[in-house]
Amino acid sequence: MDISITAPASPPAPPATLKGVGFGRIFTDRMFAADFSPEKGWHDFRIIPLSNISLHPACCVFHYGAEVFEGLKAYRAEDGSIRLFRPLDNGRRLWNSCERMGLPQLPPEDFVEAVRTFVREEAPWVPGEPNTSLYLRPFVFCTDVQLGVHGIRNASFYIIASPVGSYYPHGLAPVHIAIEREDVRAVRGGTGYAKCGGNYAAATRATVKAEKAGYDQVLWLDGVERRYIEEVGAMNVMFKIGGTVVTPSLTGSILPGITRSTCITLLEEMGLSVEERRLDVTELLDAAKSGTLEEAWGCGTAAVISPIGSLSFDGVDYPVSGGNIGPVSQKLYDTITGIQYGRLPDAHEWVMRV
Ligand code: PLP
Ligand code: COI
Repeated sequence: MDISITAPASPPAPPATLKGVGFGRIFTDRMFAADFSPEKGWHDFRIIPLSNISLHPACCVFHYGAEVFEGLKAYRAEDGSIRLFRPLDNGRRLWNSCERMGLPQLPPEDFVEAVRTFVREEAPWVPGEPNTSLYLRPFVFCTDVQLGVHGIRNASFYIIASPVGSYYPHGLAPVHIAIEREDVRAVRGGTGYAKCGGNYAAATRATVKAEKAGYDQVLWLDGVERRYIEEVGAMNVMFKIGGTVVTPSLTGSILPGITRSTCITLLEEMGLSVEERRLDVTELLDAAKSGTLEEAWGCGTAAVISPIGSLSFDGVDYPVSGGNIGPVSQKLYDTITGIQYGRLPDAHEWVMRV
């Protein structure tokens, strides 16, 4: 891959601290870009100053939502080295997301090379304070200018980067979750397994409703029978019930999370059995009532592990883990971040140095 690199106009000026800076609010001084056309394929790979993107108002992304994205982080280890975590898996998921949306696909190996080169260039922006990282947001969108609904011909691929601390301002603290009964996030046969912007747009109304009612996030039920657990907010979800960890199986409406897959491997290594299966909301609430629901947590790149302190269903609140962080949630958080920041051995070769 031939990447043209424009140097920063002035010396980079990363913030002295990320304390008080919200997630994804500030950005580095440059971005990665590339374009696709049927004639040239992917071309013009470049690292250029961060700027607004100028598009024709009839551009298909504005009307028909032809867009997919990824999310991964670059971590600064204590020895100063910079690491990525399972970036090839993000490249593979982007490939699958593009396939679902009819967008041109970037080979996963090229994705990794783009991410690595960009992070190397933006190295001064990878923060060093505890629990901070450089959040990377690759995205692909259609640039065709026409209002007819047709197959996609032209597209662009960008990566932008944001120095971040914890996803939630309160860090690793239990969240309060409302089980959503009206809206669904995605359906089988739809786009749930793809990381496309439309899934998040469809989730907004219920999320705002839950926040207004004093909850942090919603727990999504399936779109057909409205009874099987799917995801929590924009994270996969896991429950420890009677000593076994249960997580919804990937049925097509759920995003195949890389943190989810990491958790399954680590939980099995801890000697816990993990069941990937459908989980009925009544089974979950019965477990909460009888006390066999020992722990629950969301998992995703941004928050890593997000312990669930309570579940609300039709206005009734069910506390989980006594509203505290459970030992398995804590252990998963410590192990995953330990591997990412180089404090623990990387037995599975998940870490890639940039
Ligand atoms: N589910 C949704 C809807 C997400 O947006 C994310 C975040 O990317 C996840 C799950 C977790 O995926 P990952 O662990 O790969 O970040
Ligand atoms: C995640 O990384 O878990 C996310 O869902 C990212 C979010 C900001 C869309």
